[in-house]
Amino acid sequence: MASEPFLIGDAMTGGYGPVDILHQCTIAVEKGQIAVIVGPNGAGKSTAMKAVFGMLKLRGGAVRLNGEDITKLSPQDRVAKGMAFVPQTHNIFTTMTVEENLEMGAFLRRDDIKTTIEQVYELFPILKTKRRQPAGELSGGQRQQVAVGRALMTQPSVLMLDEPTAGVSPIVMDELFDRIIEVARTGISILMVEQNARQALNIADKGYVLVQGRNAFTDTGEALMANPDVRRTFLGG
Ligand SMILES: Nc1ncnc2c1ncn2[C@@H]1O[C@H](COP(=O)(O)OP(=O)(O)OP(=O)(O)O)[C@@H](O)[C@H]1O
Ligand SMILES: [Mg+2]
Repeated sequence: MASEPFLIGDAMTGGYGPVDILHQCTIAVEKGQIAVIVGPNGAGKSTAMKAVFGMLKLRGGAVRLNGEDITKLSPQDRVAKGMAFVPQTHNIFTTMTVEENLEMGAFLRRDDIKTTIEQVYELFPILKTKRRQPAGELSGGQRQQVAVGRALMTQPSVLMLDEPTAGVSPIVMDELFDRIIEVARTGISILMVEQNARQALNIADKGYVLVQGRNAFTDTGEALMANPDVRRTFLGG
């Protein structure tokens, strides 16, 4: 049997209350690779992320991390297993300083976090300059850096990002994608939702197009970009 991906949400079915949003939806990422979820508004992208992170009870399917069934684990237990999640909204504490946000990210750790904070500052040098400022005073792109940095404070093996480039300029987006590639090169798996489908698929090892809670297309980022149906329907030709 071929070995399975490092993290997989396998045939996930579930939603909010009695209404299923996800229908046998499968999302996976390999070690140190970048997997990207794209699709129209309301397709269930955020719901799929919540399901993988344990914020949604599944009626069907399973989530496995490194071969272990974690379907029944709480989000906090998943963090302890090496997963980190940056939600689409409310992903920083705006009244706390940048550094306090990073410290909060490490709340589960009992060891020395100074090295990790320095690593985050190396990845995002502007955050070191602004370390004493309330995070709410930062620009949109810088806030997203705080959110990603905070998630990295648990030293995760999987980093999940829901629309990390929402509301930032194309230049800031390119920069953030470069940093995300850098993170993946250290062996951390990246699972992210992106509205900038073209640019995201460009850096994706694997891409998932979701439509109405179902897998519409799944392939390498490159193959999806080249697929005429995907181009016409989701990438604007
Ligand atoms: N907390 C909730 N309770 C009930 N329904 C919800 C909830 N969150 C989302 N939904 C519904 O689930 C469906 C999928 O929403 P979801 O947020 O997962 O989509 P999305 O693909 O992330 O969209 P977007 O691109 O706008 O972020 C939508 O119909 C939405 O209205
Ligand atoms: Mg969403």
